[in-house]
Parts: sequence; C-alpha cells; structure tokens
Amino acid sequence: MTLAAARARVLRALSPLHPLGWVSVAAWRRCSQAGPPAALPHGGYRAWQEQAARDPAGFWADVARGWLRWDSPFHTACQPGRPAGPARWFLGGRLNVSVNCLDQHVEKSPNRVALIWERDEPGTAVHVTYRELLDLTCRLANTLKKYGIQKGDKVAIYMPVSPLSVAGMLACARIGAVHTVVFAGFSAESLAGRIMDSGCKAVITYNQGVRGGRILELKTTVDEAVKNCPSIKHVFVAQRTDNKVHMSDCDIPLEEEMTKAASVCTPESMDSEDMLFMLYTSGSTGKPKGIVHTQAGYLLYAAFTHKYVFDYQQSDVFGCVADIGWITGHSYVVYGPLCNGATSVLFESTPVYPDPGRYWEVVQRLKINQFYAAPTAIRLLLNYGEEWVKKYDRSSLKTLGSVGEPINKEAWQWFYQVVGEGRCTLVDTWWQTETGGICIAPRPSEEKAEIIPAMAMRPFFGIVPVLMDENGKVIEGNDVSGALCIAQPWPGMARTIYRDHQRFVDVYFKAYPGYYFTGDGAYRTKKGYYQITGRMDDVINISGHRLGTAEIEDAMVNSKQADHPDVPETAVIGYPHKIKGEGAFAFVVLKEQTAYTDHVKEELKTIVASKIAKYAVPDHILVVKRLPKTRSGKIMRRLLRKVVTEQSNDMGDVTTLDDPSVVKEILDAYQKYKDKSSS
Ligand code: WT7
Repeated sequence: MTLAAARARVLRALSPLHPLGWVSVAAWRRCSQAGPPAALPHGGYRAWQEQAARDPAGFWADVARGWLRWDSPFHTACQPGRPAGPARWFLGGRLNVSVNCLDQHVEKSPNRVALIWERDEPGTAVHVTYRELLDLTCRLANTLKKYGIQKGDKVAIYMPVSPLSVAGMLACARIGAVHTVVFAGFSAESLAGRIMDSGCKAVITYNQGVRGGRILELKTTVDEAVKNCPSIKHVFVAQRTDNKVHMSDCDIPLEEEMTKAASVCTPESMDSEDMLFMLYTSGSTGKPKGIVHTQAGYLLYAAFTHKYVFDYQQSDVFGCVADIGWITGHSYVVYGPLCNGATSVLFESTPVYPDPGRYWEVVQRLKINQFYAAPTAIRLLLNYGEEWVKKYDRSSLKTLGSVGEPINKEAWQWFYQVVGEGRCTLVDTWWQTETGGICIAPRPSEEKAEIIPAMAMRPFFGIVPVLMDENGKVIEGNDVSGALCIAQPWPGMARTIYRDHQRFVDVYFKAYPGYYFTGDGAYRTKKGYYQITGRMDDVINISGHRLGTAEIEDAMVNSKQADHPDVPETAVIGYPHKIKGEGAFAFVVLKEQTAYTDHVKEELKTIVASKIAKYAVPDHILVVKRLPKTRSGKIMRRLLRKVVTEQSNDMGDVTTLDDPSVVKEILDAYQKYKDKSSS
C-alpha cells in the first residue's frame, strides 16, 4: 500500500464523515496546504450536507480547525442560545481576522494580487498584492493607534470601495477595533445617527468620492454629520481627488500619517466572540439597527460559502460588484475572498459609466471568473440590448451570481443566456445582513444537479430551513408556503443588535420560539426546493437596498419639529418597479390641500433625500384626505398595497376598518392621479 493510500485509510477510519467514504473537512484541508481545496470531492456534497444537518457543532468545528488560523484553539464549538437567542461559536478560541485575511497569504505568496481596484475612470485599474495590502493595513492600524483608537473602540468608515477602505476595515480588525461602514450614499443625518448609536470615536473618509464621472462631497457630508457627534475625536481624510477640502484641527490627513507610520503592527489576539463589526440595516420600525457580527464564526462562514457557492478556485479573479457599505461587500468583496487568498475586484463605478458595456469590458480586461451582481443592475442593462455585452470577450466567466432581491425570470435568462452564453453556472443567492453569508443557493450541490431559473433552491451546509404556518406550526411536506425560518444555528449568524439585545431576540427569535425567523416568506416546491416569495413585514427592497417603509414615513411626517409642518400623516408602501425591483409609493395627508400641494411634494422628496438617502425618495406621492385605519387606529397598509399593485376594487376583508368609505375615496384619488400622470 502506498503512503497516500494508507493515510487515506486511516483518515477515513477517523473521520466523522466516513459513512460515505470521505475524509473529514479538517483532514482534507490539512492535506491541501496552500489556500482552499481545489473542488468539492466526489460524494462530498451529500456527506457534508448530512453531517452538517445532523451534527452542526461537529461539522463546523472540523471546518473551523482546518480553515482558519488560530492563536489558540477553541474548547467548545457551539453554545446554543437558550431559551431563545443566537448561538455562540468556537468558545475559548483566539485569532485575528486580519492575520487570516493577510499574513497567512503573505507568508506563502506575497506577490499574489489581493485586490484589483477598478476605479471609476475606465482603464485605470490598480493592482494591490497581499504584501502591499498588509503594509497598508498595518500603517493604517498604527495611525489609528497613534490617535488613541484601542481595542473595542468603534470606527465609522464612510468611503466607497478602494484599497484604503478595505485596509481601514482590516486595520480595525487588526487592533481589535470595531468598524461600522456606512454606505457613502447615505446623508449626513443618516451618518450622524449611526455614529451616535454606535458611539464611534473616529471616522475614516475621503476628501471626495468619484462615481459615474461625478464628484461626491464626502468630507463635507462628514463635517455636517460630526457637528452633532461629540463622541468623534478625529476624522481621518484620505485623498481620492486632487481637490482641496476644508481641514480642521481634528482632521488628520491619512496618507501623510500612514507614510510616517511603521509598516509592522502586531495583531491583537481576539476572542472568537468579540465584535468584529456592526452594520446598520433597516427593520420594520423607523430606526435602523446595528447588526453585530463577531470574529471567528462570521469569517469562517463568509469564507466557506465564498468557496463553495461560487466554486472559487485558487488564482481565479472574483468580481463582486457590491459596495462595502452593504453586507455583500463585507462578506464577498472583503472577508470571504481575502480569507481564501483570492483576488477580489473592487468596483468603484456604475454599470452604465461611461456606457452600458462597463461590466463586460471589465470582465474582459480583468479576466473575471466569478461575477456577482444585483438583479436591479441586470434589469437595467437588459434594456440597453445585447450588443453591449457581445462586444466583449466573456470567456473567462465560470460562475454568475445574483444577490439582494428576487431576480425575475426574464433577468435570470438574460444573465444566463446573453452574459453567460448558456455555459456558466448562475446562482440566485438568498441571505441577509443578519445571516452573515449565503444561506440558500443552487450550489454547492451534487455534481451537475439541476438549477431552476430564478430560484435559490438549496440550503447551504448546516442550514436547515423550515416553513411555518400562521399558528407557529412547522409545515411538513412539499408544495407548501409559509414563513421562512432556520431551525439550527450556523456560525455566520449575527449575535445581537448593538445596545438592543432585547429587540434582537424579539424580532428574530420570538415569533417562532426555537427558530430564527428571517422575515421572508417562501414556497417549497414539489421537489423540495426553496423559492423566496418576499418580505412579510414592512421592509421594502429598492434596487437591492433594504429600507423600512416606517423610515420614509418618519422622515416626512411632522412628528418632530424638523420634518414637514404641513404633513401630519403618511403611509409608505413598496410597489413593483421595472428596474429597481421595488419603489416607494407614499400616501400623504396634508393639513390643508391648497395650490401649494405640488410644492410640498417636492419639499418632501428633498427631506427624504437629506434625512436618509437619495434612493429612499418615493417615486410617487399621492395626497389623500385620510388613511385607511382600523378601529384601533392602525394604518392598513395591506389595503394601500392592493390599490396600487392590483388596482382591483376587491379589497378583501375590510370589516376592521374604522370607516369603510375611505376605500372608495382612496381608489378615486389613485385613479385621478394615474389619469393625470398618463396624460
Ligand atoms: C433581504 C435581505 C443578501 C445580502 C444583501 C441584502 C431579500 C436577498 C434575495 C434573493 C429574494 C432576496 C430578502 C432578504 N433578498 N437575497 N436571492 N431572492 N430575496 O441583504 O439588505 O440584509 O436584505 O433581501 O427579502 O430578507 P439585506
């Protein structure tokens, strides 16, 4: 017997996966030294799926030992959340996320490209090797330290994608600080709200941003935001353009400081369950919640899903075009790919700049192998026609991914047939800010298993989806719909809402005790696949960006002195939008309806843009005399949705309405509005 065969036999005997004849994840990983293993082994999918479902703690313990570099090993893989709440993972273990994302690769292949920064200006891509990224990260980390940022401190990052913003995230991870990246399209008021809630001590930003050929005044926005944030001690300002911006005493020119700083920074050894970052996302109330992710479990889940959902192979170029302001950017631009030693593309531009061929020109030039984008961009590009795609060579593409919102069949087919020439795997990936990484996607699966268009289909290793009925009972069998819950913990799950653990438990673990409730509904097909049917709460998804309708309502109504004085009440709903997926439709009640109405509408739009962000501005504002309310005073948004989306006169059960005559009033107002806008 050869040595290899003998070793395989021993490993099989020791392996928890041996019933199907495969070696354990950790043993396999140990055998395949540099980077992630080449491919899912034969028979591996089913074996892993079964083990992960039967014994999640054992499965993930095995994966975690092999996949991550630990300073000290964990003693307990999983501590379930009791009585209801999130589990904790890899207890007692210590590690540093930046070491896993940088140092371990620098040791083996320092000159491998970590990031390709596809800047807004076409043809000016910047390549950054793992060694260079480690250098940037250490210098930035030392700069933060010099200005008093310590382990546990919170740092806001208000920057579009760039090597420096990635270095900012990793620098925080290196010194044990907690980052909260705020999407650079959010307004000063949104930024300030997040800074205040998280108690950030510093902000890292650029003088200006550049997107689609336009300048974004980032520093000006930060200045306006931090005026009201006493916790901020310093603003670190990097230079994206040559333009000068106003600098005050507490503003630090970032690159200047980094040049002076040491290029070595000893990583802080972190507990598995220390906070890595928080990221604000919308819920069904007006106040965004700071979703908290911790070190080891999050990193492992991001890396493992990155490898297997996309079939990432060593030296592939991974192109996720999301912004780091969203969870997709965290997990599949930064943490997942870098932990796996991948080359990750940072896309700073827009799909239509300088023309609608931009994505495919970039695919050709950078030889992208996996391309991960949002359906809204695909729907937009579809309208410009195939010529823009076909102009460019896309033969490097192997896997295509869709994320963030439902993808309609037409967009799926176009992405698959036109972009992927019918030869690439296309995965519709379902997950959430809270889940940390992809939970339901067609891959991995048994080799060449079918993929049904526009369906997320299969749970990832260790994800056990269940559907619940209205009475909180598990729905068995296939060809059924219900509330989508997840029955078992997984390492990537968020741990809390910052400073509001009770809200976390209430929102995710109370509705169906013992289960994580996603907020989405789903249909399980006859074959047992999952099809996401959409949110069950008042959260809408505009161009893949999540927003609570209550946030828009709160911005407009005169509940606080700053909002519009003439608007006592509003109700916002989502409606289907051809490109954006969903758009916001606002019903507003005015104190007085006068000739001044159109002016008020414009003012409301400006208010929403300045209080939240431009993308949150309602496409439609319809003035009504009153809103449909129940006898207890609750607005019946369901009814408003029916008016806009179905345009039928059948409003279903309206017996709980305080005054049913309101239905006709609103239908008439809507009809008039429609007639006016189509004339
Ligand atoms: C919500 C989560 C996924 C990371 C980026 C968005 C919706 C997400 C899909 C999909 C249908 C989807 C859900 C989910 N969603 N992916 N493939 N098909 N719906 O993360 O901002 O936390 O939003 O986006 O409604 O709950 P997020």
